[in-house]
Amino acid sequence: MQLLRTAQDMAMACRGAARPMGLVPTMGALHEGHLSLVRQARQDNDSLAATIFVNPTQFGEGEDLTEYPRPLEDDLAALDREGVDLVYVPPVSEVYPPGFNTWVDVPGLGDLLEGAHRPGHFRGVATVVAKLFNLIRPDRAYFGQKDGQQTVVIRRLARDLDIGVDVVVLPTVREADGLALSSRNAYLNDEERRAAPVVYRALCKAQRLWETGVTDARMLREETRRVLEAEPLVERIDYVSVADTETLDELDHIDGAAMVSVAVQIGRPRLIDNVVLGQ
Ligand code: PAJ
Repeated sequence: MQLLRTAQDMAMACRGAARPMGLVPTMGALHEGHLSLVRQARQDNDSLAATIFVNPTQFGEGEDLTEYPRPLEDDLAALDREGVDLVYVPPVSEVYPPGFNTWVDVPGLGDLLEGAHRPGHFRGVATVVAKLFNLIRPDRAYFGQKDGQQTVVIRRLARDLDIGVDVVVLPTVREADGLALSSRNAYLNDEERRAAPVVYRALCKAQRLWETGVTDARMLREETRRVLEAEPLVERIDYVSVADTETLDELDHIDGAAMVSVAVQIGRPRLIDNVVLGQ
């Protein structure tokens, strides 16, 4: 595995890489969720690049940018074991040099749900992902359904900017009790950790209702919310959404696919999760 620290070195290494080439962008602190993307990408492609970059522009004020875990040695060892060919780990100054002033914004999609609670978040995500696509020029890029809105925003930007990358979205990897793997789960204390599976339980409630023929989206939102409200350690519910999988518009009635997504505060972390109905 080759480790690259500058955009110029990474661009050069990518130019010589075998095709098709896969890309798995991450912020590090890798867990089985990230590694599931790496494994699929390894199978699908002749060469594989990964990136580890804690992207400051997608963190809001008062968020966990400085405390975000950075176990770089362990991450590199894991990527090496999974057969990654190239790993790009740039310093912030390489991605955002002095004078940097061009942004990729996906208004509408990026302002809903997570975007409404984390202003500027998706501008940061879209900008860094567009930069990585341009620099690395992968044939396929792999993302987790765990960040459902992120996948919608990235698909849109890849299409709108003619990037020519195939955006592949893979299922959310969960703990045995249903909690979606996330590096931020480490912020939960024991009691909060025991309460956290309520998030997936609430989503499963919506899924079960839909499977038994309930297509009234308002009813699904209410029933999902009721499960969350029954857990005293849920301090705040930011949203319960049943939305179109492409526009993210809230639905009244489900006739095709829908994404049910929630964000809640349990202790220190905000937990987000989603399930897709009808796909
Ligand atoms: P990060 O949170 O490190 O996640 C990297 C990728 O792993 C994302 O595509 C995310 O959806 C996926 N992932 C995280 N947890 C997962 C799980 N439990 N199951 C399946 N996939 C999971 O998402 C980001 O980084 C950043 O926003 C990034 C795209 C790298 C841009 O900075």
